[in-house]
Amino acid sequence: MKITVVGTGYVGLVTGTCFAETGNEVTCVDIDANKVKKLSAGQITIYEPGLEKLFERNLKEERLSFTTSLEEGIKDAEVIFLALPTPPGEDGAADLSFVLYVADQLGKLLTDYKVIVDKSTVPVGTAEKVIAAIAKNCKTPFDVVSNPEFLREGVAVDDFMKPDRVVIGTTSERARKVMGELYAPFVRQGNPVLFMDEKSAELTKYAANSFLATKISFMNEIAILCERLGADVDMVRRGIGSDDRIGKRFLFPGIGYGGSCFPKDVQALVKSSEDAQYDFKILNAVMDVNEKQKLFLLPKIKAYFKNNLKGKHFALWGLAFKPNTDDIREAPALYIIDALLAEGATVSVFDPEAMGNVKQIVGDKIIYAEHQYTCLDNADALIIATEWSVFRTPDFHKISATLKNQAIFDGRNLFEVQRMKELGYHYESVGRIPAIS
Ligand code: UDX
Repeated sequence: MKITVVGTGYVGLVTGTCFAETGNEVTCVDIDANKVKKLSAGQITIYEPGLEKLFERNLKEERLSFTTSLEEGIKDAEVIFLALPTPPGEDGAADLSFVLYVADQLGKLLTDYKVIVDKSTVPVGTAEKVIAAIAKNCKTPFDVVSNPEFLREGVAVDDFMKPDRVVIGTTSERARKVMGELYAPFVRQGNPVLFMDEKSAELTKYAANSFLATKISFMNEIAILCERLGADVDMVRRGIGSDDRIGKRFLFPGIGYGGSCFPKDVQALVKSSEDAQYDFKILNAVMDVNEKQKLFLLPKIKAYFKNNLKGKHFALWGLAFKPNTDDIREAPALYIIDALLAEGATVSVFDPEAMGNVKQIVGDKIIYAEHQYTCLDNADALIIATEWSVFRTPDFHKISATLKNQAIFDGRNLFEVQRMKELGYHYESVGRIPAIS
């Protein structure tokens, strides 16, 4: 099939590459000429494990190409995906201006039947708006489909190639047939393609992400309670996760969720609820808990240093909002850095992938270490904000020899509490019983 993907951000690039990998001919369109030049020259613009190989192969096989011209990009396409940003506006609602602008342009350019697919996360009712924006100038029949993505950063290629489910929102038989054919190679293992109306598909995406965010905030509150009552969140997590109705996944407490999806989508669903005159109480609490959770370690750090962080120097491991990505959007580490600097402390950081992105935002207010161990130089304590695999089995001899105080504040529960005690550390994590001496 001939496909166009408008927008070569994270979702667009993964979508375009993966469709090319299954034999489709994909043209990606972006207004950023510099990006198009780079991508056309074989330079990938995002870090996503496994993507580069597929990207290079499909570029070479000429199944994947890039252009800045929407007109040229959609010429022979049967399906046009919109993978455009929907950033939160000032009131928290998703800003649809990018999506509606392209829809408007498409209306002027369409000369034969095409299926236009919303891949961007958009509020309920957006398909209707996209239809209206295209129809204003369009003389040929077309269909608009809502097809939300459920890609996790770090495993996006796998998620795309072997999805748990594909959600397709359309009431058009013609579009349904085209979309069914397009996704057939991805659901060979028997996972469902769920056809539904446009609004239900749009809401499914928000409901999924909000539910997962709720699970995390719930566990973060259970962790707080564990510390107060003397229970261990690891035990409670296993205890409840064995119940199939709850499930083992997404029950890990930590220093809050971040990234480009959960914070934005929960906020947008709250806003949609308000617009529908409904006060979504649970989600307001989910956001509130998450805001506080980002600084969960701070009181522990302050207590250890007798409420005075002035002149103290901290090593911080992990900047990305989660492992296997260079994405630092809403990353808890950034909040911790700000809080430490505000207390008069200094900070050295290390992250396997996200240093460049942080440098662009935070600049020279902090020190960027070349290595996870040189990051510890002159540090009074170590703070861990992201659970990268390289931090899971560190050389504790090196850590002990370099840190001024044997203190580790771990926001991701990487180590056994008892073992850390035996190694002689003052070790604080999230929701676990202090070690027995
Ligand atoms: C998420 C959804 O999983 C994906 O389906 C959707 O399309 C986009 O949003 P992503 O943002 O890439 O994907 O990250 P995910 O792996 O889901 O983690 C989100 C956040 O939750 C991270 O900050 C992570 O640290 C946190 N998290 C996750 C926890 O704190 N505890 C958990 O148990 C799981």
